[in-house]
Amino acid sequence: MSHHPDLRITTHDAAGLAAHMDDVLATFAEVYAHEVATDPFFSLARYGERLNAYASRAGFSLVMGYLGNELVGYALGFRLPAGSGWWSGLQDHVDPEMLNEDGTRTVAICEIMVREQFRRRGYARRLHDAFLHDRTESRATLLVDPTNTPAKAAYLSWGWQRLGGVRPFADSPTYDGMLLTLGR
Ligand SMILES: CC(C)(COP(=O)(O)OP(=O)(O)OC[C@H]1O[C@@H](n2cnc3c(N)ncnc32)[C@H](O)[C@@H]1OP(=O)(O)O)[C@@H](O)C(=O)NCCC(=O)NCCS
Repeated sequence: MSHHPDLRITTHDAAGLAAHMDDVLATFAEVYAHEVATDPFFSLARYGERLNAYASRAGFSLVMGYLGNELVGYALGFRLPAGSGWWSGLQDHVDPEMLNEDGTRTVAICEIMVREQFRRRGYARRLHDAFLHDRTESRATLLVDPTNTPAKAAYLSWGWQRLGGVRPFADSPTYDGMLLTLGR
């Protein structure tokens, strides 16, 4: 049994993201400080654009975790639309049926992060479980850098399985494309 205080979790749609944008960006800037400083793709302006694009998708949801009024971390994602290009950078051969996105089947988790001083207390797990709690989709997907040991270990311990390597853009790294059955 964890002796850490439980998170207070709030759930938001696109309007909620807009209302909390400053806190979300500040958390991102802290967790990804090195990347923000060195890689234009991680600039706050570019990240803000990606957030707004995610928020415009059907099935978008943001969960935020608080201790008191302090934001500990957040997770967000959206439903893959019919014919989604999510799997178009797949590097491995898999059963094509696994890649058939019909607009109802799969929720994608785009982001999950916990501020460093709050890690290893089960808070990422709480955000993950809250994000997936009342989804209608039958499975979830995410992309993880295979060298991201904490995240990879977390997903494997939470029941995720690797489908194959995915390179979303020609110049991006190859990520592990992961799936979790939601049993809906
Ligand atoms: C990945 C991340 C979200 C995990 O957050 P967290 O709150 O520490 O995770 P939890 O406490 O819920 O840990 C769950 C499990 O993950 C694994 N794990 C987490 N950190 C780990 C580490 N440093 N090394 C090995 N395993 C780790 C463990 O299996 C852990 O369970 P345990 O503590 O009972 O052993 C956090 O490290 C983070 O924000 N990293 C930076 C952002 C990031 O990489 N996000 C994922 C992008 S795909």
